[in-house]
Amino acid sequence: MLPCGAYITLEHETVLILRKPQKREFKNEHEKQNRRQSSYFWEERNIWFSDIWMLNGARQELNSKDVRKRSGAFPLEIPFRLINMFSSKSDIVLDPFTGTGTTTLAATICGRNSIGYELDESFSSFHQKELTSQSFTDTANKMILKRIKEHRNYIADYEKNGKQPDQRQL
Ligand SMILES: C[S@@+](CC[C@H](N)C(=O)[O-])C[C@H]1O[C@@H](n2cnc3c(N)ncnc32)[C@H](O)[C@@H]1O
Repeated sequence: MLPCGAYITLEHETVLILRKPQKREFKNEHEKQNRRQSSYFWEERNIWFSDIWMLNGARQELNSKDVRKRSGAFPLEIPFRLINMFSSKSDIVLDPFTGTGTTTLAATICGRNSIGYELDESFSSFHQKELTSQSFTDTANKMILKRIKEHRNYIADYEKNGKQPDQRQL
């Protein structure tokens, strides 16, 4: 490569975490059970609760004649992590800038409900098609299986080093 004409690429997203001051209470057995069923893995916690995430970007082409050419989509992993970190099963996740519906997909994978707003009306039929498509289900299943596989590998490595996972009592 020859200097000096290249640009620095700005490829980071900033995540703002805002929360109400009180700790959320899980009041009845149903809510407590939902919370337990929203548990994430120890090794996920170590990565997710760090302040820099290195992720691959999302594809930006939209192969549909009904909508604009580029999506502005973020990687599925971003809402997936945030939803797991800060909500519980059956909660409602709101995305006021839905675009292609990445947040809706992530919420579905995590067993949450979701509501989205989108200014661009041409996305309406796109959502109806995409969010009920086989590829939506395939992406969800792939993500869940990948997560389980990675966890099994983590445990296998852990045990190889002669350690036993901590069995927390819930
Ligand atoms: C960067 S895109 C979001 C992409 C989305 N995260 C995804 O993964 O596909 C931002 C979206 O917000 C929409 N938008 C902008 N202003 C809006 C508003 N005031 N209300 C609702 N949607 C809005 C735009 O049309 C655009 O589709």
